[in-house]
This record gives sequence, C-alpha cells and structure tokens, in this order.
Amino acid sequence: MQLVSLDHSALDGAVAKQAQSLLEFAFPDMGGQYYGDEMPRKIILLSDAGTVVGHPAAYIRGVTVGDHPMDIGLVGGVAVGPNYRGKGLSKRLIAAAHQFFVSANISFAVLFAFEPERYTSSGYSLMTTQTRFIENGETKQFVYRGGMVAELGDRPWPDALLDLKGPTV
Ligand SMILES: CC(C)(COP(=O)(O)OP(=O)(O)OC[C@H]1O[C@@H](n2cnc3c(N)ncnc32)[C@H](O)[C@@H]1OP(=O)(O)O)[C@@H](O)C(=O)NCCC(=O)NCCS
Repeated sequence: MQLVSLDHSALDGAVAKQAQSLLEFAFPDMGGQYYGDEMPRKIILLSDAGTVVGHPAAYIRGVTVGDHPMDIGLVGGVAVGPNYRGKGLSKRLIAAAHQFFVSANISFAVLFAFEPERYTSSGYSLMTTQTRFIENGETKQFVYRGGMVAELGDRPWPDALLDLKGPTV
C-alpha cells in the first residue's frame, strides 16, 4: 500500500480517473461535483498495486469560532474501496490529513460525517454547538448532525458557533 499527498493541480491522468471512480462509487448522489467551488489543499490517495483504493481531501478554511477568527482544517470525501473497508484504512487516511494540517500550524480539524462512529477513533467528537454555512447561496445555521471536530494539539476547541464562511465539504 502506498500513501501519497498531492496538490490538487498534480492530480491528473490515470490516477485522477481512478480517484474519480472511487468517489463516484462512494458518493453516487454527488453527480461528479466532489470538490465544489473550493479546491482542496491536498488530495491524499492510498493505492494498492497501482490502483487507488482510498481518498480524502484536506482543505484549510478561514472561519470564526465564536468571536475568534482562525484557520481550521476540513476533511471531505473520505472514501475507501469496497474490498478494502473494515481494515482501519480510513483512520490511516485521516491521520495523513491531520499530519498535513499540523505541518500548516492548524489546531483543529472538522468533518461532516454520515457515520460519526467511524471517526471517534481518529480523535473526533460530535460538535454540540451550531454551525453556520452556505448551501445553494443560502446561509443556514443549526447543530449540524454529524458535524465533528478533532483537536490536533493542546488547544481545546472553543465550544462556540462555528461560522464556516462557506459551504461544508
Ligand atoms: C466510511 C468509510 C470511509 C470507512 O472506511 P474504512 O476504512 O472501512 O473504515 P475503518 O475500517 O478505518 O473504520 C474506522 C473506524 O470505525 C470503526 N467502525 C466501523 N464501523 C463501525 C460501526 N458500525 N460502529 C462503530 N464503529 C465502527 C472501526 O472499528 C474503526 O475504528 P478502529 O480503527 O478504532 O477500529 C468507507 O466505508 C466508505 O468509503 N464508505 C462510503 C463513502 C462514505 O460514506 N464516506 C464517509 C463520508 S462522511
């Protein structure tokens, strides 16, 4: 198994096609719009014998938490190929995203999970406070079901409104 962390612009050719089909299989409802308007800072790919079998995208976003402006990490598009699930690979992929965030001096990572229990062992807890975000041009605000945060260093997450200043990922 090989793990690589790429700039989005470096994702092309056969590898890009394989990543695309992994995402299509994992997220059939997304109609190919996996990265939205915001390009991820890193695409992390896990390959087995030349085939892409794992993917998350790592974003860095300027947000506010309560009154505090800060940059946080966002993890999106976590996908593991069907034959590779249940082996702890998503944990490995998320650890690689966290490594990138820490190298960029980011203290917190946020993700929006379909299955939150998958992410507790990677250090994530459900947020109990509200998230403000933009969806289809409209601002929305509520306690987001599946919204989770991981503390990457010593700073405790301020339990306050997270204003994403943009969409979820
Ligand atoms: C979700 C997905 C990425 C998980 O990948 P995976 O590599 O199979 O997950 P893992 O095996 O690493 O499991 C992650 C953790 O969740 C735990 N877990 C798995 N199923 C669980 C369940 N039903 N209840 C509680 N914990 C569970 C595992 O034990 C593991 O923790 P551990 O490492 O401490 O043992 C994969 O199933 C997938 O690609 N699904 C389709 C796309 C998708 O839904 N992505 C998520 C978007 S939020």
